[in-house]
Amino acid sequence: MEDLGPFPSRPGYNEATALDQSDPLGSFRELFVNTDPELIYLDGNSLGRMPIAAKEVIRLVVEEQWSDRLIRSWNEGWWELQLRLGDKLAPLVGAKNGEVVISDSTSINLYKLAYAAVRSSKEGRRKIVTDDLNFPTDVYILDGIARELDLELVIVESDGINGPIDPLSKAIDRTTALVSLSHTVFKSGYTYDMAALTSMCHAAGALVLWDLSHSVGAMPIDLNGSGADLAVGCTYKYLNGGPGSPAFLYVRREHQQRLADPISGWWGHEDPFGFGLEWTPTEGIRKFHAGTMPILSLAAIEPGLDHALEATPQAIRHKSEALSNYLIDLSRTALEPRGFSLASPTDQALRGSHVSFAHENAWPITKAMIEVGKMIPDFRNPDNVRIGLSPLYTTFLEVHTAVCRMADLIDSEAYQEFEGASATVT
Ligand SMILES: Cc1ncc(COP(=O)(O)O)c(C=O)c1O
Repeated sequence: MEDLGPFPSRPGYNEATALDQSDPLGSFRELFVNTDPELIYLDGNSLGRMPIAAKEVIRLVVEEQWSDRLIRSWNEGWWELQLRLGDKLAPLVGAKNGEVVISDSTSINLYKLAYAAVRSSKEGRRKIVTDDLNFPTDVYILDGIARELDLELVIVESDGINGPIDPLSKAIDRTTALVSLSHTVFKSGYTYDMAALTSMCHAAGALVLWDLSHSVGAMPIDLNGSGADLAVGCTYKYLNGGPGSPAFLYVRREHQQRLADPISGWWGHEDPFGFGLEWTPTEGIRKFHAGTMPILSLAAIEPGLDHALEATPQAIRHKSEALSNYLIDLSRTALEPRGFSLASPTDQALRGSHVSFAHENAWPITKAMIEVGKMIPDFRNPDNVRIGLSPLYTTFLEVHTAVCRMADLIDSEAYQEFEGASATVT
């Protein structure tokens, strides 16, 4: 592509520069590594950018703790790290100290909490309810639990974009043990009203488990205020914790005593260094913890948490809404005439921080955006180009430039050479 912009003569440019100038979060961008100023990164909803401060944290763990202090480091901060960082993350999801722990991956945490929830439910509650917007790993895991425990998994159908509220209300009944949903769904970006859905579940006597992966770090979340029972989520998207960084889980305090973690590992034991052969769970959130944490990855999530806390979820959400409204407004004149259609909710209250566009050539267009257009969005099967807007570092001018580059790629038909392209991670 010859002209990568910026494109001052095209509609929306002045608005973008004005919005950037008045952006109260503008200075946060400098806290992240940016090795290529021409590259427009639109995939922070998959893997967030690297906080510069993460380098120093990793250096400290490698050069001082691991190298020098060796195993003594467990007694000098490592042993409690997942609890300390869980408490740090808690305000980002509306939880109290002692309700969140950093642990394992989202998939594993979902298994632990879903299993614990259905095992705790009364006889006669034989149903797990989810929807077809949920992330596949969640559905696979819920299905696996249903098969293992001889329960029924009900996958409520949606229109592909919006949460199927009425069908969910019909599916959730006195036979439901657990409802498990993504708070913000991975493809369309639809965001559930957590309080309303949680009330719906509780009215039927069911527990609710939220996957917050696409919400945390992008908006205020109120697990306590909405009465939510359980939640899981990752730290590598809007929390910028790093590739494969450990996930978190939330168990409402009143449930901690009665729910049993199906993985009875030694880190959840009341006396792990007693080395007795009988498993006695410890009290509190620690009992949902299985085994030794990957300290390098765990320590590296702290700078991202600090940045999100300093920015505040409210200010982050405010910018996220402004970015996605700006993108959607631009798309009406620059992308829709070129075959794109909005595949996310139009109402900003129902949208997370990514916006999806459907296009019949979505895959080669995504490839061309990456290979030729110096933009990184991602592709979601079968026809979505997904644009992640990360309020801590995405600028309005980047959105403007990206939309102009996309329009040029279509006009030049440069994407056609990628029609047969393949990739493992899309
Ligand atoms: C909503 C949601 N849940 C779970 C996952 C993946 O979980 P894990 O980190 O265990 O691979 C993703 C990955 O993008 C996701 O978007």
